Amino acid sequence: MMKTDEKMIVKGKRLDGRKPDDLRKIEMEVGVIPNADGSSKVSFGKTTAIVAVYGPRSLFPRHLQESESGIIQFKYDMATFSVDDRKRPGPSRRETEISKVARLAIEPVLFLKNYPKTTVDVFVEILQADGSTRVTAINAASLALADAGVPMRDLVVGLSGGKVDDTLILDLCGKEDNYSDADVPMAFLPNKNEITLLQMDGRLTPEETKQIIRNILHAGKEIYKKQVETLKRKYSE
Ligand code: CDP
Repeated sequence: MMKTDEKMIVKGKRLDGRKPDDLRKIEMEVGVIPNADGSSKVSFGKTTAIVAVYGPRSLFPRHLQESESGIIQFKYDMATFSVDDRKRPGPSRRETEISKVARLAIEPVLFLKNYPKTTVDVFVEILQADGSTRVTAINAASLALADAGVPMRDLVVGLSGGKVDDTLILDLCGKEDNYSDADVPMAFLPNKNEITLLQMDGRLTPEETKQIIRNILHAGKEIYKKQVETLKRKYSE
């Protein structure tokens, strides 16, 4: 965690005027890439992810096929123009890690056993990065999979929490992420409160950790509602 003299909270308000538990403006859309089987675009403030889903489709090369199950392949990529300092093209260690944890966060909602020898491919492109990109990617992937008509036992909701200036906050922007005492990205199945991703960078007491998880589960219900509305909007057109 980097250190700064800049206050992250002034008179109870965060850098962008939010209260500790406020989320940024959330925008969601599905069907944004007509060539894909399913697609979505999701923004949390200035963080924007676009996702294309293909499949279930036959998996090649064949030696990767599972005879008793399908697999999900997940690629998270940050566009070179998504951050102020141009991001080097090509996969970084960070992107490889995020691809893996996001795949594991989504996998439990899919019925992969029903699709032996196939793959569901999820491609995430971060167009703008201002903190919390992995959870934005997970929300977008969940929507794009539903848009593709892939059977799912629940949607997956992603939201970050953390601590700045001794205050627990939700939905960290880039600066808060960089200078936080702790940041906690989390994903869960909203109908069961089953957590599928929980990471932590920094230091928190056990009680603070539990409180952040509770806050995320609570505020995440709003994200779930927006996901459902977004899907209904498209399919009632
Ligand atoms: O994006 P997320 O919070 O899931 O993951 P992170 O690795 O903790 O990155 C935090 C933030 O740092 C990102 O959201 C970006 O705003 C920023 N970042 C950046 O400016 N340049 C990079 N090469 C990677 C991340």
